[in-house]
Amino acid sequence: MIPQISSFQQYQEVYNHSVNDPEGFWAEVAQNFQWRKPWKKTLEWDFATANTKWFVGGKMNITENALDRHLATRGDQAAIIWESNDPEEESITLTYKMLHQKVCQFANVLKKHGAKKGDRICIYMPMIPELAIAVLACARIGAIHSVVFGGFSAQSIADRINDAQCNIVITSDGSFRGNKEIGLKNTVDDALIQCPSVKKVIVSTRTRTPVSMLKGRDVWWENEVKTVSSDCPAEEMDSEDMLFILYTSGSTGKPKGVVHTCGGYMVYATYTFANVFQYQPEQVHFCTADIGWITGHSYIVYGPLCHGATSLMFEGIPTYPDAGRFWDVIDKHKVNILYTAPTAIRSLMSFGNQFVDNKDLSSLKTLGSVGEPINEEAWNWYNENIGKGKCPIVDTWWQTETGGIMISPIAGITKTKPAYATLPLPGVQPILVDENGNEILGNGVSGNLCIKFPWPGIIRTTYGDHERCIQTYFSTYKNLYFTGDGCLRDEDGYYRITGRVDDVMNVSGHRIGTAEVENAINMHLGVIESAVVGYPHDIKGQGIYAYVICDKDLEDKDLARKDILATVTRAIGPIAKPDKIQFVSGLPKTRSGKIMRRILRKIAEGETANIGDTSTLLDPSVVEEIIGGAL
Ligand code: WTA
Repeated sequence: MIPQISSFQQYQEVYNHSVNDPEGFWAEVAQNFQWRKPWKKTLEWDFATANTKWFVGGKMNITENALDRHLATRGDQAAIIWESNDPEEESITLTYKMLHQKVCQFANVLKKHGAKKGDRICIYMPMIPELAIAVLACARIGAIHSVVFGGFSAQSIADRINDAQCNIVITSDGSFRGNKEIGLKNTVDDALIQCPSVKKVIVSTRTRTPVSMLKGRDVWWENEVKTVSSDCPAEEMDSEDMLFILYTSGSTGKPKGVVHTCGGYMVYATYTFANVFQYQPEQVHFCTADIGWITGHSYIVYGPLCHGATSLMFEGIPTYPDAGRFWDVIDKHKVNILYTAPTAIRSLMSFGNQFVDNKDLSSLKTLGSVGEPINEEAWNWYNENIGKGKCPIVDTWWQTETGGIMISPIAGITKTKPAYATLPLPGVQPILVDENGNEILGNGVSGNLCIKFPWPGIIRTTYGDHERCIQTYFSTYKNLYFTGDGCLRDEDGYYRITGRVDDVMNVSGHRIGTAEVENAINMHLGVIESAVVGYPHDIKGQGIYAYVICDKDLEDKDLARKDILATVTRAIGPIAKPDKIQFVSGLPKTRSGKIMRRILRKIAEGETANIGDTSTLLDPSVVEEIIGGAL
């Protein structure tokens, strides 16, 4: 099993070793996995060309590590516990043996429909066991999964399918979220009008919503599994073969497909899982993320399963049937580790303590936070009311592109400080730089967060466009991976992430590019131009503020606002809907035509007294007008 750090002194020793001899360090960690053939070289890298290869020449399959390897030792232990959206519906436990059998069986269904190594398969499903099974079945046969979060629109699905040229889609008839029933297959059908590459759609049953099933293209999951055997040897994969694509937003253009490969991602997700949470045998790990995001990939599926852990998967939302649902789930399944997002914490906090006080949370040992900066108030509430002052909180900073946690306390070992991600994990070498890329040394400083040496989970490419990967991550500062985050390092050398320094918003822990939302708004008839910025929001962390110029035809502003929301929902999905739309007659632009977002951000934040220099603007008077109408 993966070595776990057991004291702060050992952390320091291991950390130093990982910096002095990164290859030696990661080779030792990687020994603890099952390889079909050993690697020949631990690392090859060149940041200038965005080229990183770990465990070069090694052969393996991640599902042999996540499943087969555990059959002899813990075949009857729960691999996945599934809790329904509906508290009355019985939960499901899949042991490692059962999960292995189901994954192999579904892998054979994929093969039966022509799937093979290297194919891209889009997965658009609710949080049901079949989602984890579908992901692992792809990995079993060497197909590359591209999971699309169930909240994205048909247009977003189509963009992602076309970008990766997927030939199969796996979906469900519908999903349950709180008291809502959402059609998924219908949305997929709308998407597929634009997707000629897709030849097969496999549909699992969840809501039994009426759906159209196209003869020759669509098949039911439940029927298909009856037609195949449950014996499916794993495909032999190279360390650097692609494992999955996951689309994420940046400051420009459409979302890009972040690519992770088999060997390095496996080692990194598992090592960080075992160490950050200090997972002990038999514990129940509850990560509340959706598998449609990287957190779900790494800490519901791959990390826990490769470590032989029990992973709890929850279909529902934290406020259904009431704001005590997480605490009920924890009591019911005796959850030991809870890993959730600040947004959920702030939302539950706002309901008051009556939903927490009468719950038995005594099984909890460790609490985690991820996805956005956690404010001190939320950190303290989490610590006192959920952890009862006895559970270490690990505030884990990382990104889709990093594959796993990068800066975080090690539970119970690193001394925590509210709102601080604290210290880098072994193998992670953060540095702060100023605008010109000069390293900012010492403590009590802040700057842009970069990483100066590769780790096994680092992004390999952006699918179909390697140049974009180089431009986005490795060009801002020479020979550094740029995270896009601002960060301070305090007197103790502890890191605190302060948020994005680029045009990416973080809304309820979801990454959304301002450009993406602007493009969606601009699609609407009558809209001439728009500018979108984030602003502080009590629950969501950031809200979306849109300034919109529209032509005279849009007289009824109330209706126009609703129509724009409908347009954004259709183009991206409800998660990207602006919280505020202000109609303006002009935008603050420089003489060269660049929108001064700094000014718009200040106005959205309500800081109108302190707008700063507007003398370079083409028409400074628009600022007065915008301030006058600010929402
Ligand atoms: C932000 C989610 C502060 C950050 C795993 C990063 C955080 C972006 C934290 C990545 C944290 C994530 N403290 N900010 N603990 N964790 N972020 O790709 O801005 O969805 O760049 O990955 O979320 O979001 P992503």
